[in-house]
Formats: sequence, structure tokens, C-alpha cells
Amino acid sequence: MPLTRRAFLRAFSAAAVLAPAAPALAGCAGTEDVPAVPFGARLPIPPLDRGTVETSGGIPVRTFRLAPQAGTHEYVPGKAAESMGYNGALLGPTLRAARGEKVRVSIENRLAEATTVHFHGMMLPAAADGGPHAMIDPGGSAAPEWTIDQPAATLWYHPHPHGSTEKQVGLGLAGLFLLDEAQDGPGASLPHEYGVDDIPLIVQDRRLDGSGKVAFDPSGNSLGTLGNSIAANGTLGAVLPATTQRVRLRILNASAGRWFKFGFADHRRFHMVASDGGLLAAPLELDAVQLSPAERAEIVVELRPGESVMLRSFAPDLGRVSPPDAFGGGRDFDVVRLDAAASLAPSSPLPAAFGALPEPVDARTATSRSFTFSGRQINGRTMDMERIDFTAAPGAPEVWFVDNVNPYQHNVHVHGVQFRLLDINGAPPPPERAGWKDTIPLLPRERNRIAFRMPRYADAEHPYMYHCHLLTHEDQGMMGQFTVAS
Ligand code: C2O
Ligand code: CU
Ligand code: CU
Repeated sequence: MPLTRRAFLRAFSAAAVLAPAAPALAGCAGTEDVPAVPFGARLPIPPLDRGTVETSGGIPVRTFRLAPQAGTHEYVPGKAAESMGYNGALLGPTLRAARGEKVRVSIENRLAEATTVHFHGMMLPAAADGGPHAMIDPGGSAAPEWTIDQPAATLWYHPHPHGSTEKQVGLGLAGLFLLDEAQDGPGASLPHEYGVDDIPLIVQDRRLDGSGKVAFDPSGNSLGTLGNSIAANGTLGAVLPATTQRVRLRILNASAGRWFKFGFADHRRFHMVASDGGLLAAPLELDAVQLSPAERAEIVVELRPGESVMLRSFAPDLGRVSPPDAFGGGRDFDVVRLDAAASLAPSSPLPAAFGALPEPVDARTATSRSFTFSGRQINGRTMDMERIDFTAAPGAPEVWFVDNVNPYQHNVHVHGVQFRLLDINGAPPPPERAGWKDTIPLLPRERNRIAFRMPRYADAEHPYMYHCHLLTHEDQGMMGQFTVAS
């Protein structure tokens, strides 16, 4: 990657660096003068927030507080950029609750603009979902509550204001929401000490201008803004000091439009243990896992004492995209470097299996629906806040055909449910997408078939959304809504 000596020295002197001999750089300059940041800053770990348990009407309620607010953040050391965060200047705390618990999230909007807080991947009543109808004005508040009723998983929360989601997420509004099961569940032997061997990793491309500020370019490309720098937990050039033999990374692609194909620079193999909605049936050995925007993967990697290894995003496989290296393909990015200590604490071996997942709903008894994704429309329609596209019965089995007819990628996310991918162009899905999912890629000219049960909560008034999670597409109306009513 070309970089002028002056730019290198400028960036180098601005940062506190644990420099390897030939420092990799996190800002990958194209034609613009993007400030490059050498690897060296310690990976920040978002604070773990278990909330406080309050009793309401004799029932314990785990209560969290989130205050979206504006601030500034230095992606490039010494260069402040406008930002947004929950309870701070960037990103938000990692919320954590267990299956069966009742939770409440008290939200206080301290931004100068309206926002919502959506709980992505959560199986909850539509009224608590935080979609585009749940706007909170500046100075306003909301307090959605529900009972956690799904397997352990890495979920996330982010704003969903119709038309400005890309901007608000891009400025920094995003956080993780971890769900746990009982102590002796099948995942109990996985690394689980938060911030030590169980590491949250929010990965986002950022388009930084020459002064280190976040820029948007929704018209520049059919995918919207594609960044030139990769932030891990908000930091370019981050290094994770590892102290254990095995490290679990909970990776979230929180980018607006970029696909990542995560692997290690030395091509070592690792195990993927969970997808969007929970554990896979068994640890899956891979050398790379591809994630479209909003997808998650939990992986466990083994380290040798004293080594350094780079988590890299390799050029993603974008199928029949045309031209082949367009739309964010053809690029490698370094994401975060893992520096193993000279001696590593032993970790439990991975279990051989976690347990079979239930069979997906039977397509023969399910309601079948088709959705064609084209341009910024689904089935020829643009999102209309006043239009409900269909109504389904609580808990009803559904099978959806989701088609992308464009020569570039989309993806699809459904609110309030976890689904299973039945097939892609009639063939079984790759094993990394065979478990619980709430978001799947839709590569060019691919027909995906998904199956799930509708949420069990009836509410004729509040809708759930389904949409492309490329945030520019979503903002431009590539979204529909349904209600669940008996
Ligand atoms: Cu991640 Cu409709 O959202
Ligand atoms: Cu969602
Ligand atoms: Cu799209």
C-alpha cells in the first residue's frame, strides 16, 4: 500500500506504538490522503454492563441504562472526529443478561436528533423492538422491557431511525448484547472471561478524510459508503494482548456496506462455535469466515506463547458480482493483532459437539412467501411507514424465498426472530450458515430460502421490520413491515 514517508512519520509520531519491525498499517490508502495508523494501540474492551436488578410488582427486572449522546473520538491520534456513543463518546457498553430474566432498558436521548434503540437478533414483542416507529425525540426517553426467551448468543443494539441509520451507526452508535444460558449449558467450557479470553470485537470500516474525520458517501457506490480504514472496537491498528492458550472472539460486522472474510494472516485454522443466534451443532474448523453487515460469528483460536498473529479480512467471495473486484471485493485489511504472552494460561479443550439444533419448520405446512430484492426495493415497493406488508399468526411457521436479482450484493435481516437457512439456489447452506441466523448475505442472482416461526407475541399495532442491512439501502427504503396478530 503506497504511503508517503511524510504521512508515515506524522502518523507514527502521533501514536504510542509497540512497533513490530515492519509495522502493518490500519488505514489502507486509496487515492486519498488517509492518515495511516500503525498497529500498537491496545484494543479497547467496551465496559461490561450487567445492569441492576430492580423489583417491580414482586418481579425482579434486570435494568440497563443507555444514553445516546454526541462526542468526539480520535480514530487518528491527535485528530478529533465528531462521534456518537451510548453512555460515552463512541459505541456502547456490552449489555449482558440470561435466559429467563426479565429485562428493561431505560433509554434517555441526549442527542440533538431523534433516534431509536433496536435490539438486533432479540426475540421480543414488537413494541420493545426499537424499530423506526419507536422514535425518541431529543431529551425524550423510553423503557422497553421483555423476557429473555432464546439461547445464549451474541446480539447487538443500534439505532433504527428511518433515513438516518447509516449516519448514526457510522458515527458510533452500536453495542453488543450478550445472552447467557444456565452455567452447565453446552457452551460452558468455552472461554468465557469477558475481556480476558472472551473478547468482543465490533469491526467497522470507516471512511476517514485527510483530517481524520468520518465521511459518508452514500452515492459513491451501489453499496453506499465503503470505508478506507478498519476500526476494531473503535480503534485503528489495535493490538490484543492475549494471556490464554485459547481466545474466543465474538466478531460483529457493524459496517454499513462492507463484507469481511475473517481469517488469520498465517492461514491457521480456528473453530467457529456460534453464528448470529447461538451455538452451532458442533465446533466447525475453518480458515476463514465471511460476514456481511450485521452478521456475527464467535470463533476460538489457539495461540502459541510469545507469538503475534494478525486477524485479517481477506478479499471476500462475492459470487457473481460484476465486475468481479467491484463492490468492496478484491481487498485485504488487517483488523487486530493478537500478541500472545510469553507464557499462556491453559484453556479447556473445545467440546466435540454442542448438541443438534432442532429441525427447521416443515416447509410443507408453512406459509410460503417470496421477496425479490432489486435496486432499493423489495417486491417492487419502497418502505412506507404507513404500509403493513402482511400479517401473520403468532408462532406460525413460515418459509421465505429471498431473491437478489442484482449484479451486486444485498443481505436480509428479519426482526424478532432467529431463522434457519434451508438452501441457496437449491443447494444446502455452508455449515457456518446452517445454525441460528437473523441476517444472511444475498449474493448476486442468489435465491435463499429461510424458515422460522413467527414471534409468539400478538400485537396488531406494532410492526416488525424485514430489510436489507446495507445501511444505505435500508435508509433508502429497502425495507418492509409485518404484524403478528391472532
Ligand atoms: Cu440491525 Cu432492522 O436491524
Ligand atoms: Cu434487527
Ligand atoms: Cu441492499
